[in-house]
Amino acid sequence: MPDRTVFRGTAFSCDADDRVQALVDHLFVVEDGFITAVLPADDPAAAEAVGDAEAVSTQPGQYWLPGFVDLHVHAPQWAQAGTALDLPLADWLRQHTFPLEARFADVDFARRVYASLVAELLARGTTTALYFATVHPTSSLELVLACAAAGQRGLVGKVVMDGPDNPDFYKDADASAAVADTGWFIRRVQELRAATGAEVYPVITPRFIPSCTDEALAGLGALARDLGVHVQSHCAESDWESSHVRERTGRSDSAALDGFGLLGERSVLAHCVHLDDDDVALFASTGTAVAHCPLSNAFFGDAVAPVRRYARAGVDVGLGTDISGGFDPSLWSAIRQTVTSSRMLESGVDAAQPPAARGVPDSRVTFEQAFALATAGGGRSLSLPIGRLAEGYAWDAQLIDVVGHRPLPIFDDDEPERILQRIITLATPANIRAVWVQGRKVVADGEVVVGH
Ligand code: GUN
Ligand code: FE
Repeated sequence: MPDRTVFRGTAFSCDADDRVQALVDHLFVVEDGFITAVLPADDPAAAEAVGDAEAVSTQPGQYWLPGFVDLHVHAPQWAQAGTALDLPLADWLRQHTFPLEARFADVDFARRVYASLVAELLARGTTTALYFATVHPTSSLELVLACAAAGQRGLVGKVVMDGPDNPDFYKDADASAAVADTGWFIRRVQELRAATGAEVYPVITPRFIPSCTDEALAGLGALARDLGVHVQSHCAESDWESSHVRERTGRSDSAALDGFGLLGERSVLAHCVHLDDDDVALFASTGTAVAHCPLSNAFFGDAVAPVRRYARAGVDVGLGTDISGGFDPSLWSAIRQTVTSSRMLESGVDAAQPPAARGVPDSRVTFEQAFALATAGGGRSLSLPIGRLAEGYAWDAQLIDVVGHRPLPIFDDDEPERILQRIITLATPANIRAVWVQGRKVVADGEVVVGH
């Protein structure tokens, strides 16, 4: 007999076209972690669908939302979040980030930092995260274990950086060691998944082209083709990075990564601030997704990625916090920043110009569209059945309470669309009362449940 639970209440979730829908007083039948039926509570078939399953119902003022998908997190950088963002990317990496990441050779340190981050993300409703760990294979497994222990869906990569420009204290020994360690890491994660059922996945993770040799990039591309696992990297993040890649390869970052076999349905590339039309077409034709990290882009990209343009061209787009190039671990903040940044891209670039000459037309992202990026867009980017409260999808959900514990200023609004806007713009972690990942409760009464 499958494990069966029925969740009842009003939910906000995207439909197949990314339009946000209010599902007022619906039943969500969940069997072994997946949604098998969604129907209005007054549907004649409801009683039969519920049967003798355990029922979980909302109180007045409570709503179901899909869990959020964070497509770009550097887990070790949690230990420096909120610092050093006054430097350009290359200096920030060299002066702060590589020395910090080198400390993750210490497995005890790694364990402490990773457990803290996973709990913080879950408490903010992030049910799935695509993580960079560090170059260290064994220590990177600690992040996988932290996800498994807390019940978060975690896609984790051992970082590859074997190039000559990396500091001696923090790099792979050489290209063949980097590829072999990646293969070892992938096998360990797959074994853990098979043995425990934990929702953990390995990810091939060349840091970015400037930190890797051609040999390592080609070796990782071959692994991606052979093993079919996820791939992540950085792409076209800043002027410095883009021009470095062009000088070295004679191509754009996207075209070069494609040449190494690193684009595809399971590839997610962070930032992608500088893509020309050919690059965008390459993303669309290969199924490669963009992890949009607007807060980080303000610091290191000095730019806003035109994600509406990418979406219109058929590219999958989701959101990332980019801890710690972005200082904020909350995907709620990333949603809000996406909207704010898009307004500046559309019309605020040079206020001395007449309005008609400013900005990039049709760049505006609405709150509903940004919510779709954080949920359905993230799931599609990873090619996983997550990010929507719909039949066939995992029950990854957040229970939001707007009246009880820490009320939002909702006094007499009754239209669901207005309530969703207030939730998206105003909710804090105190409003997230419970979180489920694939049917399992991982946050209860606002607290992360530890020790699964
Ligand atoms: N490019 C290469 N490494 C990094 C990193 O750690 N963070 C960001 N934002 N960009 C990078
Ligand atoms: Fe990054």
